Amino acid sequence: MLRRLHPEQPESFAFTPDNRAWAEAQITKYPEGRQASAVIPLLWRAQEQEGWLSRPAIEHVAEMLGMDYIRALEVATFYFMFQLQPVGSVAHIQVCGTTSCMICGAEDLIAVCREKIAPKAHELSSDGKFSWEEVECLGACANAPMAQIGKDYYEDLTAENFAKLIDDLAAGKVPTPGPQNGRYACEPASGLTSLKEFDSGKTTSNASVQLATDLGDTIKRIDGTEVPLLTPWNDRGANHRPADPSVKLNTTPQEVGAKAAKPKPAGNATVDETGIEKREAQAKSKAKPKAKAAAQPESDVAPGKKPRTMKAPRKAGADDLKMIKGVGPKLEQMLHKLGFFHFDQVANWTQDEVQWVDQNLEGFKGRVSRDDWVAQATLLAEGKETEFSAKAKKGGVY
Ligand code: FES
Repeated sequence: MLRRLHPEQPESFAFTPDNRAWAEAQITKYPEGRQASAVIPLLWRAQEQEGWLSRPAIEHVAEMLGMDYIRALEVATFYFMFQLQPVGSVAHIQVCGTTSCMICGAEDLIAVCREKIAPKAHELSSDGKFSWEEVECLGACANAPMAQIGKDYYEDLTAENFAKLIDDLAAGKVPTPGPQNGRYACEPASGLTSLKEFDSGKTTSNASVQLATDLGDTIKRIDGTEVPLLTPWNDRGANHRPADPSVKLNTTPQEVGAKAAKPKPAGNATVDETGIEKREAQAKSKAKPKAKAAAQPESDVAPGKKPRTMKAPRKAGADDLKMIKGVGPKLEQMLHKLGFFHFDQVANWTQDEVQWVDQNLEGFKGRVSRDDWVAQATLLAEGKETEFSAKAKKGGVY
C-alpha cells in the first residue's frame, strides 16, 4: 500500500496550548542536539489531536524539533500507525484481521464495516463520522475477534454487537470497552477458576475499562487537558500538586520551574563538618552563577565570542539560510534576530564564534557544529551548491 500525503490538506496546524506544553516537555527528555528523537511522540500527539496527520502538522512538528521536513515525513509515511488521510470525525475503527481474530470471525466484522461505514478501508462514511481499516494483531488474541477504537479495545465481538456498537457511537454514546460478551477479562468461557474477586461482586469492571468509561475518551480527540503533564525530571513538581497554590497543574515546565519551591533539607538530615547541610550547599552553589548571569549581558556570559552581526540584510536581500542543512524556518528567524542574514557571515565564523552561536540558539543548541554550518555556508557563499541545497532546490523541500 502506498503511503502518500492526502491530496487535500488543511491550511495550517497548531497544537492546543496544553498539547504544546506537553510536546515541549517531551523534547526535554532528549539530550541537547538530539531533540529529533521526540518526533514519534509529537507526531502521535498531533494525530491524537486531529485524528490524522496532515502535511502542516508534520511540518509543524519538524519545525519544533529543528528537523528537515523530509525527515519527519519519512517517519510519518513509514509507520502504519500514522493516518495520512482524514478519519471519521467520531471514530476510526481498527479491526484486527490476524489469525486468532480471523478464525473467530474478524471477516464478519469487516463485512459490518463495509456495510455500515464504507466499502473500502480508509474511506470516510457518507456522513464523515466513521472510517475503518484492517490491522495486524493487537495483542488481545484471547478475546478474539476484537477492534480498537481510539485508545480502547472492544473484545469478544460478534457481527451483531459490533454493529450496535457503531450505532451507539453514531448516537453520541460511549460504549463500554473491553469484552462484549460478559467476560471480565480473558478467563475461560466457563467462568473464573481462580482470582475470583470479580465473581465476589467487589469489582464491576477492570481498571482500564473504568478509566476509559470515566474519561469517555473513546470518541474524544486528545487536547492535552486529560491528564496532568508528567515531566518530573524537568521541574520536580509538574506532576504533583505544587506547594505554591498559584502554580497550576498543566503549567509549562518553565512556568513551574520558575515557581518551584527551593530545595530544602529533610528535618533530620545530617550536616557535614562545615555545618552546612549538603543539599543546602549545593543549592547555594547553584544559585550563585544565576545571580551573576542576571547582572551581566547574555553575550558576556555565554562561552565563545559573539560574531559581528548586522542590523538588517544587505540591499539585495537576505540569503536563504534554509539552504544550510539543519536550518528550518524557525532557526532562520532566530538567526535573523541575532543579526545573521548572509552565507558569508556564517562562513567567516571562527571556532569561538561557532561556540557562541551554538550556545545562543535557544532550543537548538549545538546545531552549528553538529551540521557544520561553516563548511556548508562557505560553499554557498561561493555560489556553489551543497548536496542538501541542490536537493532542496530541486524538490522544494527543506
Ligand atoms: S489476532 Fe487479533 S488480537 Fe491477536
